[in-house]
Amino acid sequence: MTASELAVVILAAGKGTRMKSKTPKVLHRLGGVPLIGHVLHTAAELGARHTVAVVRHERDAVVRAILDLAPGTIIADQDEVPGTGRALEIGLEALPADFDGDVVVLSGDVPLLDSVTVGRLVEAHRGERDDLTLLSAFYDDPTGFGRVIRGRDGAFESIVEHKDCTDEQRRVTEINSGVYAFTARAAREALAKIGMQNAQGEKYLTDAASIIKADGGRIAAIAITDNWLVQGINDRAQLGATAREYNRRILERWMRDGVTIVDPDTTIIERNVTIGTDVEIQPGTQLRGATSVAEGAVIGPDTTLVDCEVGENAVVKRTDATLSVIGPNATVGPWSYLRPNSVIGPGAKVGTFVETKNAQLAEGAKVPHLSYIGDAEIGPRSNIGAGAITANYDGVQKHRTVVGADVKIGSDNVFVAPVTVGDGAYSGAGTTIRKDVPAGALALNASPQRNLAGWVERHRAGTAAAEAAAKARGDAPEDATAAESE
Ligand code: UD1
Ligand code: CA
Repeated sequence: MTASELAVVILAAGKGTRMKSKTPKVLHRLGGVPLIGHVLHTAAELGARHTVAVVRHERDAVVRAILDLAPGTIIADQDEVPGTGRALEIGLEALPADFDGDVVVLSGDVPLLDSVTVGRLVEAHRGERDDLTLLSAFYDDPTGFGRVIRGRDGAFESIVEHKDCTDEQRRVTEINSGVYAFTARAAREALAKIGMQNAQGEKYLTDAASIIKADGGRIAAIAITDNWLVQGINDRAQLGATAREYNRRILERWMRDGVTIVDPDTTIIERNVTIGTDVEIQPGTQLRGATSVAEGAVIGPDTTLVDCEVGENAVVKRTDATLSVIGPNATVGPWSYLRPNSVIGPGAKVGTFVETKNAQLAEGAKVPHLSYIGDAEIGPRSNIGAGAITANYDGVQKHRTVVGADVKIGSDNVFVAPVTVGDGAYSGAGTTIRKDVPAGALALNASPQRNLAGWVERHRAGTAAAEAAAKARGDAPEDATAAESE
């Protein structure tokens, strides 16, 4: 082991009582990712040799999420001894016994801290050969935080928790952010000496600082200027405010990368979304999950895409889509609903009040109005008339509808699946397609229309309709014998 090795210990055993939630605090989401996911991401970017997560509260759910996000993470279970000092002690015990490098301590509930900032902390720590280097911040209202106490010469002296502060110490506005770089050896030695004689009866990690100092070690506190980076999440008000700021930063990054965002105040883009240049995002749009949007596409207004892939120059308006693919140059919306596994081909169209689910539209296929297309395949260039419905569910099983290439389906058709329509076939308006249609055939089964002449005047006398009918007839006497004709 060399002194340049790095381990990250993430403290995530705390209760998070102020969240008032059944969900463990570190699993609450910000930017589409659990809080702990952001921290694991930072750890991964640091290239640490070992990453340890210290857990206790709701440990099974938290561990499952951690191993799902970062499978190589070492899990360390905190025992009943409370406090951040105990948490780090447990975390260090989970490292290989001969680990002798530097240890970065992060909190599972501080999502905005990035690897560049932590990397600088580690660099400063190594450059100055400190035993402990910590990030501090200046807060207008430091209530609740540990204060960084400095001597007359400005050198670091100790951290005193809010509850343990004298009146004079409470006036100090420099706070301990809870982000530290220790040399492993100094941390181990100091933690072994920490007691629990304090206002909260806990092992305070912050006491390690005074112990290292008393033992003649070197400590530096570096004040951060961007306080959001060390913002911890303790309640939902902080979660909301931090999520808003995080989103603002993500949008700013995309705008600097060549994406037009017409109204940043009403646009939400989650962390794992990717966007090409010259994409335009209209107001009221949410791009969530693993959504990707290729160059030149226009998304919105009022569109939510979750785990979707949008091709170049596609246009997606007033649409709700999940786990779907929208091909290049396709147009979707306004008012479309794409449920999982909808694949809209290149140049294809899904129009107004159309719902799709597990449906593949080939290149240039069109479902322009008022339709439900589920468990279906629509061939290239085929056009589905207004009001088409796939009756895909027989109450027990789902069945597929397959429509070939260059088909023209009339308005108000029902496909009673399983059913296949061959290439180049047509169907009349109102057809209920119960049987396969061969290529090139015209399918018809709407029953012949009967007109009962004069029915309205005879059966609805005195209504506006009867008067309009009489007027249209020019008050000519009614031919009673021809009352019914077809
Ligand atoms: C801690 C610091 C305080 C600092 C503040 C910054 C101590 C004693 N105090 O206070 O100086 O200003 O953070 O936000 O460290 N945790 C465990 N096990 C525990 C207790 C906590 O893993 O037994 C974890 C929590 O889940 C959390 C982190 O440690 O991720 C910080 O714990 P928290 O209780 O929020 O510390 P504070 O009292 O706020
Ligand atoms: Ca806290």
